[in-house]
Amino acid sequence: MSPITTERQGDVLVIVSNNPPVNALGAAVRQGLAAGIEEAAGDDSIKAVVIRCEGRTFFAGADITEFGKPPVEPMLPAVVDMIEACPKPVVAAIHGTALGGGLEVALGCHYRVAVPSAQLGVPEVKLGLLPGAGGTQRLPRVAGIEAAVEMCATGNPIKAARAHELGLVDAIVDEGNLAEAAIAFARDAISKGPRKARDLPIKGDPAAIEAFAQANARKFRGFDAPAANIACVEAATRLPFDEGIAFEREQFMKLIFGVQSAAQRHIFFAERKASKIDGLPEGTALRPIDKVGVIGAGTMGGGISMNFLSAGIPVTIVEMAQDALDRGTGVMRRNYESSAAKGRMTAEQVEAAMGALTPTLSLEDLADCDLIIEAVYESMDVKKEVFGKLDRIAKPGAILASNTSYLNVDEIAASTSRPGDVLGMHFFSPANVMKLLEVVRGAKTAPDTLATVMDLAKKIRKVAVVAGVCDGFIGNRMLKPRQIEAMKLLMEGATPQQIDKVHVEFGMPMGPFQMSDLAGVDIGWHRDPNRIENVRDALCAVGRWGQKTGKGFYDYDEKRNPTPSPEVQGIIDDFSAKSGATRREISNEEIVERTLYPMVNEGALILEEGMAQRASDIDVVWIYGYGWPVYRGGPMFWADTIGLKTVVEGLEKHRDAFGRDFRMSSLLTDKAAKGERFT
Ligand code: 3HC
Repeated sequence: MSPITTERQGDVLVIVSNNPPVNALGAAVRQGLAAGIEEAAGDDSIKAVVIRCEGRTFFAGADITEFGKPPVEPMLPAVVDMIEACPKPVVAAIHGTALGGGLEVALGCHYRVAVPSAQLGVPEVKLGLLPGAGGTQRLPRVAGIEAAVEMCATGNPIKAARAHELGLVDAIVDEGNLAEAAIAFARDAISKGPRKARDLPIKGDPAAIEAFAQANARKFRGFDAPAANIACVEAATRLPFDEGIAFEREQFMKLIFGVQSAAQRHIFFAERKASKIDGLPEGTALRPIDKVGVIGAGTMGGGISMNFLSAGIPVTIVEMAQDALDRGTGVMRRNYESSAAKGRMTAEQVEAAMGALTPTLSLEDLADCDLIIEAVYESMDVKKEVFGKLDRIAKPGAILASNTSYLNVDEIAASTSRPGDVLGMHFFSPANVMKLLEVVRGAKTAPDTLATVMDLAKKIRKVAVVAGVCDGFIGNRMLKPRQIEAMKLLMEGATPQQIDKVHVEFGMPMGPFQMSDLAGVDIGWHRDPNRIENVRDALCAVGRWGQKTGKGFYDYDEKRNPTPSPEVQGIIDDFSAKSGATRREISNEEIVERTLYPMVNEGALILEEGMAQRASDIDVVWIYGYGWPVYRGGPMFWADTIGLKTVVEGLEKHRDAFGRDFRMSSLLTDKAAKGERFT
């Protein structure tokens, strides 16, 4: 049965799409739309047309699952042209999210009405693409150059009210009354006739394009798609419509067959797949989470609490001393106030969030919490003590979570009488900002405990990935070989700035040494200035603890701009000489092979051991937790694109340098031998 039906309302033909979940514009939808327009055009008793969607949203775009498959006619650009060419006025009735191809269908329509809650956007750039069904040419004519370039190049949607101001929406109609209001609007439009976007003059000043491109250059670093989007909007300002469309098509085809778009589409689906839990009994009931307890009001505990408060879930936060509690809650308030100052929330929302926070010095106050997250000092003894106490205090059925980033969750669970209620919730710093949440499934974690936390993650707008119990889980476990090799390369002749530069050029937000300086070189340091066994000890002993002390692997000025440090180089040279390493010229290629290939190998070991559910989950961890460039699709997807055989050969080449502890993943070598991929 076609997802498209038509219904007559007097002299108006209403074309209705019903293609759950998001009315993606798959082949059957396109065929149905084309047939609906033909029906309207060929029937003299029909004077106007409405296109609307059933379900939660207007068309949310082309069907991404069709990309890369043989094309099925009619293609979307032709359908949009057909709608626009209809001799009778066509009105789009928009609710939910009119996105990508969906907004392009709406732009093919002659008029658009929307409910106040609707959003309109062209998010193709986030998939490494551009609006390829005329969007880059019609949007500047309808909404103006400035809005068009911003919408296309950032992919961020706008609200109905803003779309109305811009002329992208002709009328805002009552929320419950869209279908009727659109028909009434269509009837009014009969006398005006069709208004084709292609015939409208370009609105606005073309100079806005260059200004926008310059202002956002940093944000777009490494990505191909934003520049292509900008170029298309620029083309619209100087080329006749049909030539602009030809240019858009050419750019679209280049992007869609490129690695970047494949990587970004991989991440789109990977992110959604990550929330699915393997081996969970069908219909597992979730536990209600109406109140959360957080132990520790430091940077982590405060950030974690903010996630829940922002989602309207009350939090009780516990500290050991009043001044630490005051300091922690003070920081939370300042963070909220700075969001309000930037217009991201209202003063009332700040008060509502802070009003739902109960600070206390007593663990006993956690007795009524449905979920308790421990964010105390990273020490097994301390954690066990806390969980032992929680076991006595927490109500039956409460979920007990540790925010540990390395420690054995099974051991922590064993300090309670209810290991089924225990798991890890590893947030990434700053916890109120970073999107990743590693959910650590212990050997005894109950299915409903896991399912509840994975579901809750969505409510607090995190991307959650299930990890097994192993040292450092997925993310930090893979970080370790990278940091170790980076340090070894220093001994062999590379400089911190060379290694960092290779990583930044690869697309990471910062390199291993910049990251160390930001996080604190002293993290995990034994704090004995007389015991100097490696470069790190030596740096810590002379107070080079990173940005917080103004110097670490780099020297920093007051504005935290880094410069290479002769003192650090001296320390490196000293250790290098003592270690007997032969210093040599290190190529950038070797830095990639030595620091990134071992991460892929570690990822493969993680898969092999069942510590991650799927390779794409590992990619999600690295994209959302560590800033791996999304246009490279995460470490496992990246390994697939360069070829697993290349990775294995590279690892073999450096086996001696990796040392005796290096363990090659048999999953990796098997896949490489069979010519298979991870993703
Ligand atoms: N094609 C195919 N499947 C899609 C899809 C699309 N465009 N958009 C969403 N889906 C699927 C999701 O994969 C998910 O499937 P699952 O349930 O099997 O995991 C399901 O629909 C529901 O999606 P979400 O979980 O994301 O639901 P939300 O309610 O959180 O979000 C949304 C809805 C805002 C529409 C979000 O899905 C979204 O942003 N979708 C992508 C929109 C987009 O990028 N459109 C442009 C497509 S490219 C294009 O149009 C090219 C054209 O210019 C030629």
